[in-house]
Amino acid sequence: MNYTEVRDEWKSSPAVFWAIAARHVNWMEKWDNVLAERPGRRFAWFDGAITNASYNCLDRHVESGRGEQVAIAFESPVTGAVAQTMTFAILTDQVARFAGVLQRNGVGFGDVVVIYMPVIPQAIIAMLACARIGATHCVVFGGFAAKELATRIMDTLPKAIVTASNGFEGSRRIDYKETVDEAIQLSMWTGPAIVYRREGASITLVPGDVEWDRAMRESHPVSPVPVPSSHPLYILHTSGTTGEPKGIVRDTGGYMTALLWSMNNIYRCPPGDVFWAAADIGWVLGHSFIAYGPLLNGCTTVLYEGKPVGTPDSASFWRVIEQHRVNVLFAAPTALRAIRKEDPAGLLLYEPILGSRIWHHDIKSLRTVFVAGERCDTSTMNWAENLLGVPVLDNWWQTEAGWPIAASTAEDRAVSERCRGSAGRAMPGWDVRCVDDQGNEVQNGITGNIVCALPLPPGAMTTIWNAHARYESSYFQRFPGWYDTGDAGYIDVNGFLHVMGRTDDVINVAGHRFSTGAIEEIVARLAPVAECAVVGMSDPLKGQVPVVFVVLKDRSDVAPLEVETQVVQTVREQLGAVIALRLAFVVGRLPKTRSGKILRRSLLYIVDGKPAPIPATIEDPAVISEIERLMQQRWIKGESLFDETHYPD
Ligand code: COA
Ligand code: AMP
Repeated sequence: MNYTEVRDEWKSSPAVFWAIAARHVNWMEKWDNVLAERPGRRFAWFDGAITNASYNCLDRHVESGRGEQVAIAFESPVTGAVAQTMTFAILTDQVARFAGVLQRNGVGFGDVVVIYMPVIPQAIIAMLACARIGATHCVVFGGFAAKELATRIMDTLPKAIVTASNGFEGSRRIDYKETVDEAIQLSMWTGPAIVYRREGASITLVPGDVEWDRAMRESHPVSPVPVPSSHPLYILHTSGTTGEPKGIVRDTGGYMTALLWSMNNIYRCPPGDVFWAAADIGWVLGHSFIAYGPLLNGCTTVLYEGKPVGTPDSASFWRVIEQHRVNVLFAAPTALRAIRKEDPAGLLLYEPILGSRIWHHDIKSLRTVFVAGERCDTSTMNWAENLLGVPVLDNWWQTEAGWPIAASTAEDRAVSERCRGSAGRAMPGWDVRCVDDQGNEVQNGITGNIVCALPLPPGAMTTIWNAHARYESSYFQRFPGWYDTGDAGYIDVNGFLHVMGRTDDVINVAGHRFSTGAIEEIVARLAPVAECAVVGMSDPLKGQVPVVFVVLKDRSDVAPLEVETQVVQTVREQLGAVIALRLAFVVGRLPKTRSGKILRRSLLYIVDGKPAPIPATIEDPAVISEIERLMQQRWIKGESLFDETHYPD
């Protein structure tokens, strides 16, 4: 079926469409209603049905004869642990045993388990073990510092924390256990921390800690327990407009249905094929397409603890594709840009000699590359397509969505160039529109706020953990009757969606989503700081990087340069290095409206080196040129990757 036929089928009867899609899931009991509304949750998909995600990812594949197929292929170029593999049979056994470890440590149905681990198979084992016993996991990205981890521990009050001795960031050893100990102290949490000790690593266990290997030796395998379709499979925190992260809650049955549909219809990766999402398990891409999506569909998933460049070189991606016969690669545009920067002619992949190509890596298995997480500039997309000889297809989604809202297909690309530069067309389940600030739909081609009609499809978030009122106000209040995605963009005359950027205080650094509000909260607490503002400057590699503007207190006697260094260091310590903050500037004052609102939009133009518009409401226009002069003196200017960078109000 082509796009129009599938879309029509969904439109003619969403309930029938999703009931058919749900046949790919194994249900212990069938649903009473395909969709129901339940208290505290707007959309209860497959209401009344009973299932188990761990069973669907593992046992059923073993039962159907895939036991000897590789489930996880693990590559860690820095540790030299090249090509460790785990079959579905072994993974099932490990998960069943770790479920026993969790139970022995007091974790039961409905409890939360925080997982703070590098990209190693044990992270997936921990996730699926939670799902096996009906516990809800909350994975925290390893790049977050102890304070951020503590915030998530306090939000979810887990029964146990699962971590590892260490991970590797490039060639740097990152001590995960140390960060967990610090976060436990900060949050005053008590409970068992289960620690996986990596080969050659030593760990200092404190009372209450449990060593993974030892606990596994003493454990007995546990069978999957029945859970309702709407049972929370996981909580995943994401950035909102305030410093307080939002714990997005995902259900079980709807999510499995949506992921299985995506694997077969968007990514076209049938059972037995090899899928590689080059991401961290701490982000939604890692949850949906390293862990759950490929395993649900009986595919091999590749786990890569490395970078696109520098571990050891910019041929790492080609090496992994060759080694594991990867069929579908999913990466952030930043990763492709990083490879292109180091090896623009792709000479580490092949060399053109006397009119033919001498291949250094056999990547013939690769069919398609998908990109998401940030806007992909067409120049990078064209470069990758020319180099790899396969379609590079964009798809747009968010932590909240769980799977693509809009996607480009290989057919789109084959029949025309229409989809290049867009994120693709709305997928079944997603009725995407663009509206103005009053909520009126705008014409095709006009930029507006991107919204989706209700109900949201299976797989989309069901609530915010502990904060259902915040869920309602964050997503459904501004445009009643719609889901507010927080993105701006337009739909072109052919129905392709172009996502231009955020409408809120969220920035996207190397495909990672951060809140400028969270940075501002940290900076504002520093003693010499009177007020501050943070904006995302365009960056040719990472898409955006944060820039902090600080106004000092009148009687502050600290030198401005010292404050700038303190700002950078404090944000790095409290949020994590991954936020990539390097630029902080002390200024005399910030541009403001007469009512005192900081004009971040003007700052955004200034850091990008573009003439800043002077709003009629500005208190004193002279402040704009003051800051422009400062930027010129210090040679700071962002380079936009895109023709039309979005400058939200
Ligand atoms: N644990 C601890 N620190 C981490 C970390 C982790 N899991 N992930 C990143 N960091 C640190 C890095 O070491 C770096 O620290 P430094 O400033 O001291 O060097 C900082 O955070 C920034 O990291 P990163 O964004 O990875 O930048 P980089 O300059 O080291 O590498 C790229 C540049 C382009 C190679 C890298 O950004 C990249 O691989 N991007 C693709 C990202 C991606 O896949 N996104 C999809 C998200 S699902
Ligand atoms: P996250 O919730 O971390 O996945 O971040 C989601 C945000 O990343 C979206 O709201 C967009 O702003 C941005 N994003 C994700 N995918 C794309 C894409 N394909 N094109 C443009 N922006 C994207």
